Amino acid sequence: MDNKLNVCRKELVDVHGVPIFSCIAEEWSQVESFEARPDDLLISTYPKSGTTWISEIFDLIYNNGDVEKCKRDAIFNRVPFMELTLCGFRSGVELLNNMQSPRLIKTHLPVQLLPSSFWKNDCKIIYMARNAKDVAVSYYYFYQMAKLHPEPGSWEEFLDKFMAGKVCFGSWYDHVKGWWEKRKDYRIFYLLYEDMKENPKCEIQKLLKFLEKDIPEEIVDKILYHCSFDVMKQNPSANYTTMENNLMDHSVSPFMRKGITGDWKNQFTVAQYERFEEDYVKKMKGSTLQFQSEI
Ligand code: A3P
Repeated sequence: MDNKLNVCRKELVDVHGVPIFSCIAEEWSQVESFEARPDDLLISTYPKSGTTWISEIFDLIYNNGDVEKCKRDAIFNRVPFMELTLCGFRSGVELLNNMQSPRLIKTHLPVQLLPSSFWKNDCKIIYMARNAKDVAVSYYYFYQMAKLHPEPGSWEEFLDKFMAGKVCFGSWYDHVKGWWEKRKDYRIFYLLYEDMKENPKCEIQKLLKFLEKDIPEEIVDKILYHCSFDVMKQNPSANYTTMENNLMDHSVSPFMRKGITGDWKNQFTVAQYERFEEDYVKKMKGSTLQFQSEI
C-alpha cells in the first residue's frame, strides 16, 4: 500500500497540548533536537497567514530578484517546512540538514514548541499574522483540499473547532499572542498580512532593513510584481500544483485561492459573526495586538 495514502484524513495528535498531524508527532524528537544555525532565517506563521507569499519574497530577496533562479524548485523544497515528516518524502529536518547556509526555514509551530536552538543562536525570525476570520475561512478550504488534515465537516462545525483551537497547530489566538509577546526579547519582525496587502513596498523596505540588506529599487519592484497574487498563482514553483494530487487536490479548492482581505464576509452568517466577535474579545483580552479584517 502507498505510504502517502496512509497519512490522509488521520485524526490529529496532541503534542505538548497542541493538536498536530500524527506523522509529525511520531517523529517529534527530531524536531525538538533540530540544530538551527546563526544565519538561518525562520519564517513562522499560523497556517493560512501568507506563509507561501512571504517565503517566495524572501527567496527572491536572497537571490537578488533572480526570478529564473527562484524557479529552480518548488517552494516547499526551497523553504523547507521544518517540522513536517511524511512517509515517502524527505522530512523537513532532513532537507534542512542537507542545505547550504544561509537557509530559509518555514514553521507553523506555536512559540513554546520552537526548538531551543533557534533561541540559543539568536536567529532572525519573521512572524507573519493574518486576521482570524480570514484565516478561519482560508483554513476551511485548505482542510478540504489538503488531505493530510482530518475531515473539516461543515463550515459551522469547522468554525467551532477553529474557535476551540482544535485544528492543526492549535489555537490561532494563542499562536499570534505567543509570538507577539516573544518579539520583546528576540529578533522577531512581526508582519501583518493586511499591511502587506495595503502597502507591500513599504513592508518589504522594512523587512530589508531588518535583514540589513540593501537592494536597488528596481529589484524591489520586480520582486513585488513576481509575488503579486495573480503572478504567483500561475507559477508552478510557488502554487503547490506540483504536489501530488492525492495530498493536495486543487480541483476541490486551489491552494492560491483568493488572496484577499475580507473574504470572511462571503462565508460568515450574521449569527456566526456575532458569536465569533464576542468570543474574540474574551480570547484577545489584555493583548495590544490589533488586526484589520477589512482594508
Ligand atoms: P486564501 O485562501 O484566503 O486565498 P499559507 O501560504 O500560509 O498557506 O497561506 C495561504 C493564503 O495566502 C491563501 O489565502 C492564499 O491565496 C494567500 N496567498 C498566497 N500567495 C499570495 C499572494 N501573493 N498575495 C496575497 N495572498 C496570497
